[in-house]
Amino acid sequence: MTTVDHSPTAGRLRPWTDSGQDLAAILEAFDSDDMAAQAGEPLGTEAAARRWVAQWIGPGNQGAVAFAIDVAGRAVGHVMAGAIDRRHDTAWVSYWVAPEARGTGLASRATAGLAEHCFGSLGLFRLELAYRVNNPGSAGVARNAGFRIEGLERAKLRYLDEHGNAVRYDVQTCARLRSDGPALVPPLPRAPAGAA
Ligand SMILES: CC(C)(COP(=O)(O)OP(=O)(O)OC[C@H]1O[C@@H](n2cnc3c(N)ncnc32)[C@H](O)[C@@H]1OP(=O)(O)O)[C@@H](O)C(=O)NCCC(=O)NCCS
Repeated sequence: MTTVDHSPTAGRLRPWTDSGQDLAAILEAFDSDDMAAQAGEPLGTEAAARRWVAQWIGPGNQGAVAFAIDVAGRAVGHVMAGAIDRRHDTAWVSYWVAPEARGTGLASRATAGLAEHCFGSLGLFRLELAYRVNNPGSAGVARNAGFRIEGLERAKLRYLDEHGNAVRYDVQTCARLRSDGPALVPPLPRAPAGAA
């Protein structure tokens, strides 16, 4: 496991690439149970990592904006706004951080940085997200990044527990409007255009 700079000023948002370094970082990050549950397909091979990253760097990716969370040249997380709807200027936000980079506030600052980009450069008005009620880390990220709780969707998601039994989870829905106040944490800056 690689050591990550945990200082509160570390990190920036930058585009994903299909470099060997980024692919290796994706494979390492998804090699944990909670991350595997986030992936649409098992992410255990370089080919699968290449398919995952292609979603964010390919042409025609008009409905989403995604950034790698970069610390000292290494991708340690991901923030994205998908399902961008220009009719209503809304989008759906999600995020993850590799296990070794957690507990540092990076996920919160990265999500705040994504929101700045969405409200500023993209001109969006409403950002939505949701998390399982048993995911306090995600709840903390949403709160820190300025999202407010709007409601509870009962028994929305079904996952298998450690014994292989299906369990349904309530999901908390949240949103942040451009007209809401700022995030509770300083937004992570974006890398200047052209920087790797
Ligand atoms: C969710 C995730 C991004 C949170 O990462 P993180 O590194 O803990 O996030 P931060 O360091 O920014 O902390 C966020 C807040 O949650 C709190 N928090 C984190 N884990 C917690 C836990 N287990 N219990 C209670 N609070 C917790 C932190 O203390 C912090 O709050 P604070 O600033 O008030 O102290 C990370 O756990 C992850 O990638 N999980 C797998 C993917 C996932 O679940 N994504 C979200 C899908 S909705």
